[in-house]
Amino acid sequence: MPQINFSEITTEQGMAMADGLMEAGQYDLAAKVYRALLSSAPAAMKNRLRVRVGLSSVRNARTPMSHGALKLLEGGIRDVFVGEGLATWSKTMAFYDDARFIELADRHADLLPLPNWHWNLQTVLWAVRQAQHLDGDLVELGVFKGHTTLFCAEYVEFGDWPKTWFLYDTFDGIPDDQVDASFKKSNAVYKGTFSFEEVRDRFAHMANIKVIKGRVPEVLAKTCPDRIAFLHMDLNNVTAEIQALDAVFDKITPGGIIVFDDYGWAVSRAQFDAENAWFAKRGMQILPLPTGQGLFIKR
Ligand SMILES: C[S@@+](CC[C@H](N)C(=O)[O-])C[C@H]1O[C@@H](n2cnc3c(N)ncnc32)[C@H](O)[C@@H]1O
Repeated sequence: MPQINFSEITTEQGMAMADGLMEAGQYDLAAKVYRALLSSAPAAMKNRLRVRVGLSSVRNARTPMSHGALKLLEGGIRDVFVGEGLATWSKTMAFYDDARFIELADRHADLLPLPNWHWNLQTVLWAVRQAQHLDGDLVELGVFKGHTTLFCAEYVEFGDWPKTWFLYDTFDGIPDDQVDASFKKSNAVYKGTFSFEEVRDRFAHMANIKVIKGRVPEVLAKTCPDRIAFLHMDLNNVTAEIQALDAVFDKITPGGIIVFDDYGWAVSRAQFDAENAWFAKRGMQILPLPTGQGLFIKR
């Protein structure tokens, strides 16, 4: 077998070879080639390779489509990003200019079955950094393996903050009596695929992050902080999210932020309608973001 010396090929040629591997379903090999090319790639090629590293490293049924969309868009425009449920182009991708962001997003990417979550992470990280200067603690409802909180907590070195971050999950998926019809199938991703112990241990290096096993909303009656500066609502479950709003909204401090993770996804239409109605009743609105997230800042 002839050997290929990477110094003899251009980044464009190497990328075309790895794109071919993606099309053949050889994702692990493609990921290796994209990563190998990245270190010596010219600046103009780096972000194109980074998007590909994300798509080749975290695969799902939509990987061929996402990769195809990336190539199609790059045929006509620059600065293309393709993630899960989101493609952007001609936008400043500030996260790619932030070495710490890229390193941590890459390090924890396998905790989520969705590739290139950068725009979503950027929203939550922004909210967490705002919360640093507000009265109150941080809360996540719906933790799964801990992906988003771990990324943000390590980025901001939350272990040194004089605040506590409370993370709640059943650690056994969406309860059967709460699961929406549109999430019945995808609930299999959460059932028996992760454990309380695993997530608790993942956060053991930050003593001010408390991982709590329990069902929302009932668990909130037992352990919820009195004042909340940031709430990440990510239960994929309209019943529990509305009950959680009833339980904690008054604890959100002035300027406090809620990021709803699922709010704008078409599959979560029930959440979108119910949460809009909940806020409209109180004369307030959630801002829908193109990431699928909803953003609310309390007056
Ligand atoms: C989309 S995942 C959370 C993802 C996580 N925020 C992240 O960024 O990686 C939704 C989680 O909500 C949990 N969940 C759903 N309904 C719940 C409830 N009523 N009480 C507690 N946890 C619940 C599920 O077990 C699942 O882990």
